[in-house]
Amino acid sequence: MNDLSSTPTVPAPVIKRADYRPPEWQVPEIALDFALSLTATRVRADLKVVRSDAASGPLRLDGDGITPGSVLVDGAAHNDWRMDDSQLVIDLPGNRHTVTIETEIDPTANTQLSGLYASNGMLCTQCEAEGFRRITFFPDRPDVLSVYSVRMAGDKAAFPVLLSNGNPVASGEHSDGTHWAEWHDPWPKPSYLFALVAGDLVASRDTFTTRSGRKVDLAIYVRAGDETRTGHAMKALIDSMRWDEEVYGREYDLDLFNIVAVADFNAGAMENKGLNVFNTRYILADPETATDGDYDAIEGVVAHEYFHNWSGNRVTCRDWFQLSLKEGFTVLRDQQFSADMGSAPVKRIEDVRILRAAQFPEDSGPLAHPIRPDAYQEISNFYTATVYNKGAEVIRMMTVLAGPERFRAGTDLYFDRHDGEAATCEDFVKAIEDGAGLDLKQFRRWYEQAGTPRVTATLTQAGDTATLTLSQTVPATPGQPDKQPMVIPLRTALFDRDTGKHAGEQLLVLTEAEQSFAFPGFTALPVLSINRGFSAPVAIDMAVATADLVFLAAHDDDPFARYEAMQQLMVRHLVAAVSGELTEAARAEGLAAIRDVYAAVLADGALDDLMRGELLILPGEGYIAEQIAQADPSSIHAEREALKRWLGSELAAQWHALHDRCTAVPYSLEAAARGARKLKTQALVYLAASDPAEAARRAKAQYDSADNMTDRQGALMVLAGIGAAECDEARCAALADFHARFAGNALVIDKWFSIQAGALHPDTLKHVTALADHPDFTMTNPNRVRALYMAFAANPQAFHAADGAGYRMIADLILRLDPINGNVAARFVPPLGRWRRIEPTRAALMRAELERIAAAPGLSRDVSEQVSKSLN
Ligand code: PHE
Ligand code: ZN
Repeated sequence: MNDLSSTPTVPAPVIKRADYRPPEWQVPEIALDFALSLTATRVRADLKVVRSDAASGPLRLDGDGITPGSVLVDGAAHNDWRMDDSQLVIDLPGNRHTVTIETEIDPTANTQLSGLYASNGMLCTQCEAEGFRRITFFPDRPDVLSVYSVRMAGDKAAFPVLLSNGNPVASGEHSDGTHWAEWHDPWPKPSYLFALVAGDLVASRDTFTTRSGRKVDLAIYVRAGDETRTGHAMKALIDSMRWDEEVYGREYDLDLFNIVAVADFNAGAMENKGLNVFNTRYILADPETATDGDYDAIEGVVAHEYFHNWSGNRVTCRDWFQLSLKEGFTVLRDQQFSADMGSAPVKRIEDVRILRAAQFPEDSGPLAHPIRPDAYQEISNFYTATVYNKGAEVIRMMTVLAGPERFRAGTDLYFDRHDGEAATCEDFVKAIEDGAGLDLKQFRRWYEQAGTPRVTATLTQAGDTATLTLSQTVPATPGQPDKQPMVIPLRTALFDRDTGKHAGEQLLVLTEAEQSFAFPGFTALPVLSINRGFSAPVAIDMAVATADLVFLAAHDDDPFARYEAMQQLMVRHLVAAVSGELTEAARAEGLAAIRDVYAAVLADGALDDLMRGELLILPGEGYIAEQIAQADPSSIHAEREALKRWLGSELAAQWHALHDRCTAVPYSLEAAARGARKLKTQALVYLAASDPAEAARRAKAQYDSADNMTDRQGALMVLAGIGAAECDEARCAALADFHARFAGNALVIDKWFSIQAGALHPDTLKHVTALADHPDFTMTNPNRVRALYMAFAANPQAFHAADGAGYRMIADLILRLDPINGNVAARFVPPLGRWRRIEPTRAALMRAELERIAAAPGLSRDVSEQVSKSLN
């Protein structure tokens, strides 16, 4: 709820990292007693509070939207308390007391989905980052660690399952139809890791025995009927538990591990101690309803949350500025896990694609921040691709500098040194430094400086020596006009043109603004392969001949470098085409080169199909726009579509053959079959650009014969994008069939919304307007809102409509959603905030929409921070 809805927005205070002070009071123990109800849950909290040395102030407890029903100190009514804004301030005479506070909450009215809320008749909590203060008054900061005892009681029919963190202690029932349960978590934890779930759920169960012999009971709780779709998540959990023992030496530390899937959830999932809560989309899967991409996402997110048990829970964060301590490290760990479970090269390419699509624009825009931010107004706005994905890249660079064994020595030392503590990013860096034997003094700038470094590479040759000159700049970002040089580890190889080989990869570590590296033994200019494996999250500028990119695309033995050469080839062509610099001859030459590498990739018998699929992906429109100071989205879109069309027609026979070959591969989860499915739809995508009627025919056949969601969704996506009138019937029929076939399955209906909002179809804007009025659309379910509007905001042709209708649609959404769920609403601001990097006419329209939002009264802190930063 937004209790400021009629007052103008007052800017929220700015919280600064430099202002950190240790807590004045600790709470070593807390006992919580919940009388559960969907509309009026009563909470009694008993806090054992202990004054920190040298502290003299009163006890200050955070609250948000709650009022204290009663306050007792050491069991007696206490009157020395007051409210200071939303904080409960209690004057206490001694150094140790028990404070008892009663609150009452209405979970059904909690549309923000933070704190205790209702979802489909069940009760659940979300406390990270600052949701616990919406349940009871508490020092709601991650450096206050407590042992939790939880009791809950409620109607047995409504809430047959009662869960919290740790171990079940006791339970019982009364003759009046109510029952109760007690839980105890022996591991001290910050309030953000507290969780409670009460509802009518069924469990899928399994067990895992840790390497020291602890038998752990595993359960995944879902709504009845969904238990047939938990197998993949359970497998991922067991694989993660084993992997963390083998790769990081980390064992699980409780006798049970519970996961609950909930349909209404702001984020992906949450690592509450012993009781992970998941968005259903990262748990439920079967071949008919989940794509291969969904399967991968489930594996990755289940692993991510499990890994938090060590990187996040056993060692937690001192304050929210240290968020990347747990998130960057845990993303790295889940990326490494997924690489080990499947294809490492394909995983690496996917991770870089995500970084470039989501983080690079953030780093070059008004919301740029270092992976360890210096200030915030609303911490929820800092769960970003920078903190998560760039944070992972920064730690990955440490692995490159140290090598796997020394890095492991560093993480062992980190876990050992800080187990049970609330630590800082600096603690992590120091432990890696000490454990791995690295000097990371200058490297620490990756924690301090925002912006994606640009490295310019020049390769020359004279006598028998090749010389590589590297220079770096880090662009100015808000609040950081001047930057210092970074430590940039670049895995590099020099290929001999004649043999097509290199004499071994080298790690070049760029530390100065400019540096040269000499390579003897070259009597002719070699071909440079740099930043192999994407060893550093930087942009490389290099005047490289088209022929060299063609060479690398065909010969590079580093799979990422091969992908990168193809991307470069296409990005360069498209950027030149968009700028109007391309002569007809140059255009023809560029197109021919791209066609030839595509043909070679299509014909290369040594490639597996999953990797082939990666190599054949066109660069995204956002990434192309990143290369241009002020992009014209419509010309980028037109040029990219033209390239797609050209590849579709030039290689038509190959696409047909590919589609036929892949169609013959039966469904399985094996890599070969997954590769075939990936290519099958890709073939349709290229054909749809050049020969829509033939593509529609093939897509319809693929749709009609699909025995799995990957094929069905791929075919529907292609059909939904075809604007040709003669294909309208097939398009509408397939969309109607899909909706009818999956009615009632929320996750699949989300896909139905997304496919239409993300479609290439010229009428997408109109379709989205109509879909917002569809009976299945609702503003109160974050998955549904994202399905429709995130897909739309990520659809450049629709979002960047020349008249600004796309911008207006997103601004209208933000204004409507903000009073319901400010956290989710704020996620839609960044697409509008990119206006400075867009051509002036559209930029003015985008800015005007931001100004319209800014002028609205009673904005949430979430939206107001993002909008004001985006305008500045
Ligand atoms: N900590 C969660 C994760 O990354 C993300 C999250 C943040 C979930 C805030 C909910 C709310 O694993
Ligand atoms: Zn996380």
